[in-house]
Amino acid sequence: MTPSYNEKKLQELQGRVMGNAAGAVGLLMAYIGDQTGIYRAMEELGPCTHETLAKKADVDVRYLREWLSSNAAMGYIEYNAEVDTFHLTPEQAAIFSREGEPTCMQGFFQAVVGQYATHDTAIDIFKSGEGRPWEDHHSCCFCGTDRFFRPGYASSLTSEWIPSLKGVEPTLISGGKVADIGCGLGASSLLMGEAYPLSQIHGFDSHGASIESARNEANEKGIKNVSFEQVLAKEFPGKDYDLVCIFDALHDMGDPVGAARHIKKSLKPGGTFMVVEPNAADSLKENMNLFSGIMYGFSTTICVPVSRSQEVGLCLGAQAGEKRIADVLREAGFSSVNRVAETPTNMVLQAIA
Ligand SMILES: C[S@@+](CC[C@H](N)C(=O)[O-])C[C@H]1O[C@@H](n2cnc3c(N)ncnc32)[C@H](O)[C@@H]1O
Repeated sequence: MTPSYNEKKLQELQGRVMGNAAGAVGLLMAYIGDQTGIYRAMEELGPCTHETLAKKADVDVRYLREWLSSNAAMGYIEYNAEVDTFHLTPEQAAIFSREGEPTCMQGFFQAVVGQYATHDTAIDIFKSGEGRPWEDHHSCCFCGTDRFFRPGYASSLTSEWIPSLKGVEPTLISGGKVADIGCGLGASSLLMGEAYPLSQIHGFDSHGASIESARNEANEKGIKNVSFEQVLAKEFPGKDYDLVCIFDALHDMGDPVGAARHIKKSLKPGGTFMVVEPNAADSLKENMNLFSGIMYGFSTTICVPVSRSQEVGLCLGAQAGEKRIADVLREAGFSSVNRVAETPTNMVLQAIA
């Protein structure tokens, strides 16, 4: 028997899924443009033919023509049919070409491409229920995560988040001791190192390649008050920290309660544990929006399997919400936990030892 459809609902869903499929292809095109420098070359040239652009970006002219056509049809770039030229509007440049600005979405694209690149593994573990360590991911996952989060940290960390913590900023200005756990490629540690030159910042992460990359960036930038070390969150060295922070990594840990307990012991009395997590409401029912859809997706292939690959395997997920995260901190012995700041994508909690 032919199932009966509600035609209007079917068409609405088709439209939405078509938009998503276009996005999946468009995002790959955008990433190719990022990695080959086409968007940057377009911005420098202004309106140009595909031949001129191919020379400038040093890419194959025929492939470029097809890529430009796809981008123009998606509305990612402008096409002037009268003179057969292409260009970027300021808004398109902001999204596709301005690395480091909060509007640039290339890090986001790279993180998605990283997941497509290893979809076979994602399917295998989805069936078997096995964990998947962070280091098992494609290198695009590490770079994409860094590029995705870094602009948000650059615009909020030292100008809003740290000033919003009770009693922390004056200590860092006069010279404090900070640990950044699960620091990844070190963006947050380096930002704090630059902003508070009298403080000592120690970045820790279990992933060796990320630590190496963080060290290289510190050396290249000549930042001397930041060090990096490969170590698990439950085992990082040092005592009497004024501030310990975790940026978008607590929910990835197998034993976040154990990590938070270790952090509590490492802090000075009255010291602060700052937890930055993806901004989410406390229930799935309240998280019915596009951002949550994306984060639950990353959580399916990255965060939950990473947590499961570690001791305890609590699997908080990337949309755990404030209540669940605060419960973890209280279980670890932090009695005072408060939300002190937020952006559309992140929430900032302060727990005091
Ligand atoms: C989503 S990334 C965030 C990285 C960085 N904080 C940022 O915001 O760009 C999560 C990081 O947590 C690290 N991580 C996961 N479990 C860990 C553990 N048990 N101990 C230390 N680091 C851990 C991973 O290696 C990865 O670098």
